Amino acid sequence: MLKKKMLKALNKQINAEMYSSYLYLSMESYFQSVSLAGFAAWMRSQVQEEMYHGMKFYDYVNERGGKVVLEAIAKPEGDWKTPLAAFEHILHHEQMVTALINNLMELAGAEKDHATKIFLQWFVSEQVEEEASVGEVVNKLRLIKNDSSGLFLLDAQLGKRTFTLPQQDM
Ligand code: FEO
Repeated sequence: MLKKKMLKALNKQINAEMYSSYLYLSMESYFQSVSLAGFAAWMRSQVQEEMYHGMKFYDYVNERGGKVVLEAIAKPEGDWKTPLAAFEHILHHEQMVTALINNLMELAGAEKDHATKIFLQWFVSEQVEEEASVGEVVNKLRLIKNDSSGLFLLDAQLGKRTFTLPQQDM
């Protein structure tokens, strides 16, 4: 059984992951609007991945006998000046999510909730990957600057991404 404080924090994280999904969906719409279909497809995969993260927390709360309480999802931003501005925004967002996961880990430690610590370990590793993949695109966009052929090449590369459920959940 989850302790009250832990349950509240995990419920809050479900909302944070759902907000992430919503933010990426908003970015997908932005990239569609500027005809960068590859960037938009990359965002769609990320929408699904964030939804998966949220559901992973959802299932865990249920598994531990807790009640999931869903809160309102905040309105995400809808426009960015450039693809680089959008990716810098999500890099900042992912760094914030990493801090949230670290806070949860600290709370689980303080509450001596070993099961939750083990559960959160997956997210600690996942955040390293998330920050790295977004950071890589940020770096490429900084190199590209105003070179449209570089942007179209990157668009084609990002468009190849597809979301597949991690092995253990298939
Ligand atoms: Fe669910 Fe991108 O962190």
